[in-house]
Amino acid sequence: MQKRQQPGRRTVLGAAALGAGAAVFGGAGQASASGRGAAGRELPVPLIVGHRGASGYRPEHTFGSYQLALDMGADVIEQDLVPTKDGHLVCRHENDITATTDVSAHPEFADRKTTKTVDGTALTGWFTEDFTLAELKTLRAKERIPGTRQHNTLYDGRWQVPTFEEVLRWAEREGRKRGRRVWLHIETKHPTYFRKLGLGLEERVAKALRAHGRHREDSPNFLQSFEPGSIQRLGRLVDCPKVVLLDAPNTRPWDFVEAGDPRTVADLIKPAGLKWIAGFAQGIGPSLTDIIPRDAAGNSGKPTSLVKDAHAAGLVLHPYTGRNENTFLPTDYRRGTDPDAYGDALGYFAACLATGIDGMFSDNPDTALLAAEEFRKR
Ligand code: G3P
Ligand code: CA
Repeated sequence: MQKRQQPGRRTVLGAAALGAGAAVFGGAGQASASGRGAAGRELPVPLIVGHRGASGYRPEHTFGSYQLALDMGADVIEQDLVPTKDGHLVCRHENDITATTDVSAHPEFADRKTTKTVDGTALTGWFTEDFTLAELKTLRAKERIPGTRQHNTLYDGRWQVPTFEEVLRWAEREGRKRGRRVWLHIETKHPTYFRKLGLGLEERVAKALRAHGRHREDSPNFLQSFEPGSIQRLGRLVDCPKVVLLDAPNTRPWDFVEAGDPRTVADLIKPAGLKWIAGFAQGIGPSLTDIIPRDAAGNSGKPTSLVKDAHAAGLVLHPYTGRNENTFLPTDYRRGTDPDAYGDALGYFAACLATGIDGMFSDNPDTALLAAEEFRKR
């Protein structure tokens, strides 16, 4: 797989080396591992990923959220995947579903509340791996941060937890309706943890992708994980473009922790680390703060060399996460004193895009799309 990927990766590498506007999966006129049609313009650069759908406006990882993101024009729609007890993949940001479903209001599941250690962190709540899919389907999704996104609570209780299979069928349906392919950005969550439980994610993801003909190098999905080992495993199963997510520089991917690999994210974003990643992935997904750091007061600083270094290694960058609310913005882009009010998100997104990133995850795809459109006009 790694050998077969090389030609595509090199093409992407060549494109990335050209810098902003020419880089990457979907760059104009570039043949690459991205699966663009003959016109070579299937995805724009920079592309916008609807983070958990359009989670700034609807409870995350629901069909309400995915549909809105697609209707807004998001280029790619994100799914985070965890398994049920009976091995189905469902779309949740984490296996602890306490904050994003109404599970705590279901007396029949009261005895499922438990404490578990997930990737070294003790958590008390309800977990997907303790529910069959049929049981999980009796729950309804709700807004994760109702204090910040009160308007989203309007939709609490409206949608079920989607399965990955349902999303793949939805993408096919929407693709037929729109006469174009619907792109997905698919993340394996806590893959080492689930493998230890006998619920390995990668084979299940690969099987589902194969069943829908989405397993090829030119299929309309990116695969992503915070665990490089999960990306390597996926690479042995399917040929889709892959993105290694990167947490804070002082952290270590959980599979590294389990394997006793001492490398930190700070090591991985150095040229040697990026070169290593480029051996099995086509992109990285760092935090936006790894690209535009913030000082002690939360103000945005001078961009780091990460975009240049990643492009030099042949990697594209899909950083996370652009959000409209003051509380998520650097201090210098905040407006007024209400942390939940919108700040100058357009200004911040423009600054992020100006660094040469190839795409961006955003809870507010419409805002990010506007910033991207303005960026491309410059
Ligand atoms: O996958 C990109 C971004 O979503 C990573 O952060 O924690 O929201 O999955 P998280
Ligand atoms: Ca994610």
